[in-house]
Amino acid sequence: MHARAAETQSFAPLSEIWGEQLALCDALEHMADALPAGLDKLHCLRLARTIPAVVDRAHKLEELLLFPLLQDRAAASPALAAVIDRLRYEHLEDDAYAEELYDALSARGWGHPKPSAETLGYMLRTFFAAMRRHIWFDRDVLMPLLLAGSGEEAFVDLSRSAP
Ligand SMILES: [Fe+2]
Repeated sequence: MHARAAETQSFAPLSEIWGEQLALCDALEHMADALPAGLDKLHCLRLARTIPAVVDRAHKLEELLLFPLLQDRAAASPALAAVIDRLRYEHLEDDAYAEELYDALSARGWGHPKPSAETLGYMLRTFFAAMRRHIWFDRDVLMPLLLAGSGEEAFVDLSRSAP
């Protein structure tokens, strides 16, 4: 019980950054909902700057706190190796999307007409939907399984059914 509490506490920075990412998703969703008319240039520039900073910090924290835990388990549970590969790939994908969205929001923030409201809306929705799915998987599926000490069977299911 004591060890479990300590383990949970050491993951507090992850909970915080996941919370920050979800708040960012909400802000991006608001922006998408207000399109095409309600685009504030300063808000675009602020969000553009926030996106790569938050994504980068989230990845570093996950790689620091979550991945070693997964790697420890992978020694005894080979199915986990596939989950780790998937998570690494997701981080690369997130980085690419974050960079595209940074460019798009910066362009609109500086007054360029492109991307169009339609394209920007699509980019915003793609980004925050992927980020919410990613957090759901890491926070609500993977983390509880790791903290509960799940065995091989759970991870085989996980690598098959992950969204
Ligand atoms: Fe992740």
